[in-house]
Amino acid sequence: MIGILRDVQALAASYQTMISDIQTPAELDQLRSQLLGKTSVVAKALGSLKSIPIEQKRELGAAANQLSRQIESALAAQQAIVSQAKDDDLPPIDFSQPIQSVHQAGHMHPTQVVLSEVYDIFTRLGFAVVDGPEIETDWYNFEVLNMPADHPAREMQDTFYIESDEGHPPLVPRTHTSASQIRYMEEHEPPFKVIVPGKVYRNEDEDRTHMWSFYQVEGLVVGEGVSMADLKGTLLHVMKELFGDSTKIRFRPSFFPYTEPSVEVDVWYQDEWLEICGAGMVHADVLERGGIDSERFTGFAFGFGPDRLTMIRYGLKDIRILWRPNMLVSKQA
Ligand code: FA5
Repeated sequence: MIGILRDVQALAASYQTMISDIQTPAELDQLRSQLLGKTSVVAKALGSLKSIPIEQKRELGAAANQLSRQIESALAAQQAIVSQAKDDDLPPIDFSQPIQSVHQAGHMHPTQVVLSEVYDIFTRLGFAVVDGPEIETDWYNFEVLNMPADHPAREMQDTFYIESDEGHPPLVPRTHTSASQIRYMEEHEPPFKVIVPGKVYRNEDEDRTHMWSFYQVEGLVVGEGVSMADLKGTLLHVMKELFGDSTKIRFRPSFFPYTEPSVEVDVWYQDEWLEICGAGMVHADVLERGGIDSERFTGFAFGFGPDRLTMIRYGLKDIRILWRPNMLVSKQA
């Protein structure tokens, strides 16, 4: 037993140099089996434990186990160095050279292409493009929009709740861009016309028109005499600008707790109606909560899904392909 303990101690003094001298992955593999394989000093020491007295067992066991761990981590560290060296062997990239072919050039994601057209169209109509937080308080996402904690409309937008510290308001990844409506009203006097684009998140079963994370563009227009006709005219104009004059859209009655009346908007696409937008006249409660006199001002709001518009623009049957690691779609955009 004395002999094997001595071997373990000798190896403990020399393994680091043996490992640091290695330059290639193949040599490292060879050394790994020499140091930790079946015939290694460590394996022999551990194998001999069952047949030696208890006091010796403790000393040898501790020494062999510790050495095994130290060898493992030294091998892992050298592995990282050796693989790095392999990468360094690749020919250097000259970033000052022009790209070889246009096919190698990067470009915008299809949804971003559609979004930038959307910004163009709305800014030509005099809308400002503004931003809102992606992580929202439960208050702005639901409560101010007439959706208290027990309201059944919350069911449609179940989400991933974030625990917050005691005394702080509950937070959610916003479930819709409508969360920004009152934030904007609180800071601005009417008249105004804004769109608020951004990502939203829901606990959603995915299918060919639904994802759990998607874009929305909120629209909010408040002023004197703003009417449902303005809402219809604006959305029809935008869809025709995007998809051409022959685009067919329809408005159908719907319900949102924060608009009255409420509608949903569909576009005729691949022989069926595809829902692209929820909308309506801003509810008087919501205007008042945003500090706006609802006797004097009226407004309309809408929220549409740019990913669905991207389906239409590029003839896609399944929205999910947009956000899967499949370059086929993005290369065509
Ligand atoms: C809303 O989110 C409302 N906040 C819209 C609104 C705004 C109503 C202002 C009234 C006033 P809805 O859940 O229907 O409504 O979503 C609106 C649009 O977002 C849909 O028409 C669709 O284009 C898109 N959308 C909704 N869910 C998904 C999803 N899971 N995946 C992709 N797009 C979606």
